[in-house]
Amino acid sequence: MRFLSLLHEGPGVPQQFSQRKKGGARATVLFVFIIIFSFFVSALWIDTSVFLGGPHSKWKAVKTLRNVELPESPRRRTEIPLNCSAGNLTRTCPANFPTEFKADDYRNATSVCPEYFRWIHEDLKPWKETGISMEMVERARRTAKFRLVILNGRAYVEKYREAIQTRDVITLWGILQLLSKYPGKLPNLDLMFDCDDRPVVEARYYRGPNATVPPPLFRYCGDDSSLDIVFPDWSFWGWHEINIKPWETILKELKEGNQRSKWIDRERYAYWKGNPFVAPTRQDLMKCNVSEKQDWHARLYIQDWILESQKGYKQSSLADQCIHRYKIYIEGWAWSVSEKYILACDSLTLRVNPRFYTFFSRGMLPMRHYWPIKDDDKCRSLRFAVEWGNNHTKEAEAIGKAASNFIQDEMKMDYVYDYMFHLLNEYAKLLKYKPTVPEHAIELCSETLACPATGREKTFMMESMVKFQAETSACTMPPPYDPQELDTFHKDKYGSINQVQKWEKTYWETQIKQI
Ligand SMILES: *[C@@H]1O[C@H](CO)[C@@H](O)[C@H](O)[C@H]1NC(C)=O
Ligand SMILES: *[C@@H]1O[C@H](CO)[C@@H](O)[C@H](O)[C@H]1NC(C)=O
Ligand SMILES: *[C@@H]1O[C@H](CO)[C@@H](O)[C@H](O)[C@H]1NC(C)=O
Ligand SMILES: *[C@@H]1O[C@H](CO)[C@@H](O)[C@H](O)[C@H]1NC(C)=O
Ligand SMILES: *[C@@H]1O[C@H](CO)[C@@H](O)[C@H](O)[C@H]1NC(C)=O
Ligand SMILES: *[C@@H]1O[C@H](CO)[C@@H](O)[C@H](O)[C@H]1NC(C)=O
Repeated sequence: MRFLSLLHEGPGVPQQFSQRKKGGARATVLFVFIIIFSFFVSALWIDTSVFLGGPHSKWKAVKTLRNVELPESPRRRTEIPLNCSAGNLTRTCPANFPTEFKADDYRNATSVCPEYFRWIHEDLKPWKETGISMEMVERARRTAKFRLVILNGRAYVEKYREAIQTRDVITLWGILQLLSKYPGKLPNLDLMFDCDDRPVVEARYYRGPNATVPPPLFRYCGDDSSLDIVFPDWSFWGWHEINIKPWETILKELKEGNQRSKWIDRERYAYWKGNPFVAPTRQDLMKCNVSEKQDWHARLYIQDWILESQKGYKQSSLADQCIHRYKIYIEGWAWSVSEKYILACDSLTLRVNPRFYTFFSRGMLPMRHYWPIKDDDKCRSLRFAVEWGNNHTKEAEAIGKAASNFIQDEMKMDYVYDYMFHLLNEYAKLLKYKPTVPEHAIELCSETLACPATGREKTFMMESMVKFQAETSACTMPPPYDPQELDTFHKDKYGSINQVQKWEKTYWETQIKQI
């Protein structure tokens, strides 16, 4: 708990750094970028479980139809107000809270959502036949941190237990922004949300002809043996405790950052910096660091982020980051928030075979967006990957670029909202009862969360607030996979991974022969 409070006090960010001034010269922008980048970079590796020191706390070619750029609306749109002077806002929401879409301000979307949206259908499959009853939802309460009810465009929340840091608050903030973006477009619904790291709804308990239907439970990640429903994590609206800015801001900054050095001119080895003590697999990775006896072409660094946060993140610098040809991604206790930041750097991501998936990670493919690294033979796998990349620079660069394009285009904030929109819509279609406001629930709106907030939490809320309702409807939901497509998806995915492993095997066999 001690470092939690330390974090809340923050590292004392100098004013000129924390408030980005507009219209500065290019050099200023660059400088600010370096500072900003270094703030969050220090947290890239942070495995979320570190806070409590442990557990408690297809493939078909991605045929992405990008958003057709619509001309700027000639109408001046009215900004959604945040009125902090209307009464006691920790208790009541403004009565004029917009719950209706202004039809004239709205056009039908012309784009199909990215391919990874198809997993929404997969995640909701367990309830496809039966629908979702109140009894099922209530069974999910066992581990839920809060229950969210949306009724006629308004949000009501019943809190059950404390979440780590402010995960619950920021997640709800995100949902409220979704409501502002699409007023009146979200259906009535009732759901349970768990903010902890690892999935808990184990599939094996819900198999067989007479098995109980699983409880529908929302959280931030899943794995192949669980049925939890995945939802974007809080960091998309900023992680103020460790100074990671909202996603929209970071995307812009990374775009600039990538332009600073050409891939070919970057360091020719694999880089990782983080906290190895959160998971055995990370400690195992440390064995691959360069030493006098061995060079696996990996350069690994331990980051003491508590110390960093006390020192104001001065130690970490951009110079250590997007300047490598290869960057390693490895999970911590569960999924790591760092994944999207690593992939966004247009280095080639060497991804140690993960156990967990997030809402977007199932859209990323080996040899197309990243290079797969064996979890049980990391060092040799890394060494081979780097050597291969240095021998095939064009291909390696192209994979790195494909990943950063994926992040910039298919995971822009608009699509994060659209994913939430469709997931909640599809979920609500399955409900077999009319949701009602739970007895102990309170109404939430942007005011109730943002008005009392202070410091960096408030800054990030203001920055990530949706200020205008959407001009178009959400992207069009792609259809579910048919079993054959899903089969092909898995075959192709594991086919690529096996291909790499075969190359690796052959390579190491010849190395041994030569010795
Ligand atoms: C904020 O709310 C108060 C009380 O309802 C109202 O008097 C005031 O005009 C509102 N301010 C804005 C900017 O809407
Ligand atoms: C607002 O309401 C909360 C909860 O009822 C109360 O604790 C707080 O003192 C009130 N604030 C004001 C300014 O009335
Ligand atoms: C948008 O789509 C809806 C449903 O498909 C249709 O009823 C409506 O007329 C469309 N609106 C416009 C402006 O094209
Ligand atoms: C499932 O339930 C049916 C009807 O109650 C029963 O006849 C059948 O034996 C059960 N099957 C299993 C595997 O328990
Ligand atoms: C890895 O090796 C580099 C270079 O020798 C060194 O600076 C770094 O501290 C090492 N990292 C770890 C985790 O030991
Ligand atoms: C890279 O090229 C060198 C020199 O041609 C060769 O010896 C080595 O086996 C190649 N390594 C890989 C992984 O392709």
